[in-house]
Amino acid sequence: MDHIDQSRLLALDNDGQQAMAAAARHAIAYRATLDAGDVVPRMRPAEMVGRFDADLPEAGQDALTVIEDLARQATDGIHGHASPRFFGYVCGGSMPVGAAADFLVTAWGQNSASSWESPSVAIIEQTLCRWCLDLLGLPAPCGVGVVTGGTVANAQAIMAARDALLARQGWDVGERGLFGAPEFPVLIGADAHSAPLAGLRYTGLGIGRAARVATDDQGRIRIDALQAALDGCDAPPLVILQAGQINTGAFDPFAEAIPLIHDRGGWAHVDGAFGLWVHAVPELRHRLAGVDGADSWAVDLHKWLNAPYDAGLCILRDRAALVGAMTARGAYLPEVGATWEPSDTTLELSRRARGVPSYAILRHLGAAGVRAMIARHCALAAYLAARLKGQNGVTVLNDVVSNQVAIACRDDAQTVAVLDRVQARGKVYPSHGEWRGRKIIRASIINHATDRADIDLLADEILTACSATA
Ligand SMILES: Cc1ncc(COP(=O)(O)O)c(C=O)c1O
Repeated sequence: MDHIDQSRLLALDNDGQQAMAAAARHAIAYRATLDAGDVVPRMRPAEMVGRFDADLPEAGQDALTVIEDLARQATDGIHGHASPRFFGYVCGGSMPVGAAADFLVTAWGQNSASSWESPSVAIIEQTLCRWCLDLLGLPAPCGVGVVTGGTVANAQAIMAARDALLARQGWDVGERGLFGAPEFPVLIGADAHSAPLAGLRYTGLGIGRAARVATDDQGRIRIDALQAALDGCDAPPLVILQAGQINTGAFDPFAEAIPLIHDRGGWAHVDGAFGLWVHAVPELRHRLAGVDGADSWAVDLHKWLNAPYDAGLCILRDRAALVGAMTARGAYLPEVGATWEPSDTTLELSRRARGVPSYAILRHLGAAGVRAMIARHCALAAYLAARLKGQNGVTVLNDVVSNQVAIACRDDAQTVAVLDRVQARGKVYPSHGEWRGRKIIRASIINHATDRADIDLLADEILTACSATA
């Protein structure tokens, strides 16, 4: 140890503590501006290059300076995704209690792979999973992986489904791989999100090989088309359904579809990245009737639960199938099944304690608070549609059944002009999209802090831009 200068070590320690305090101060100051400030970043990527894209410095800097500089330099390029007036994509608002719990996660620096490495995290995440199954109205014995988001949740579920369907045909994918394996059909709705399609690619099932099932005007699979596709299947299929179409928020007809899939011995998977949360609300649950009959579900925590990025759940009715598809075991790790291990149900071994912020949010809101938030967002989406319909040549293209509103102006050129204008003003931020061959302005009502005044501002901004571009 004589080569280490002890006084320098002590100084570094103090520096680290000051850096953490500064980060918390900057974080709080940033969040305080979100309610009032513009939603769009002041600087675009090309302008940020000059601030960050330098050569790696040979000499280091003290931690406090790094954090102070970072906060000062980065804020101009931060998009207001956490703002109550951000309606783009499908972005949850990163609730303060979740963000605060995330500070703790980072400070604890836990490798949360196992219960004996991190007892607190394992039990917190196990409890989170139990609470979410209960809230979402899914069967209690399901297996759950706390993953990075909807894309990975879909991919993990598809992987487990693939292994299970091939095991039923006597083929062990883990041992023998996919070359030479028996085939099984894959069916997916024509208006599915790109995430489960990516899952088909990651799992070697192929995007082009999947049969696309025709959908109706809201993007829901048509039962007659599903029946015809199932009639053509020569082996039990994997069928990918959807709770919450990205443009319309619509739900597939689960109560009819899932029994048909099961009659063929198939596996029903549901991509419910945001929409599955509607099943948590007793008064709205009928809109997804039968969704709890599926074999697997993908759902995000960083969307409608408003957890900070990145967090989602991969849920399987058959926990053993999920553990079997995910688990890697070494001599130094516990025996599979002996205890509840966070890494048994996720692709990663070493992993961040990413369930802790969601657990904190659930404790903060309570079950009643989550249900009220989701119901309020659905009501606000309906209110937005009512404010816009028929005004200044605006049409709402979807039946508003959840939190997504697909808005079109007189023609595509005006829709694009209106969206450009609204985004450039930066008071609110809806995003672009396309639905049934038309350009749309897509509004997603999903931020925990969004209220009626924010929706009124969004409607006013769109209608004013319509007048200006008429
Ligand atoms: C329906 C649907 N599925 C999957 C995803 C992908 O989720 P993530 O971005 O969390 O990976 C999204 C994202 O918007 C989505 O809306």
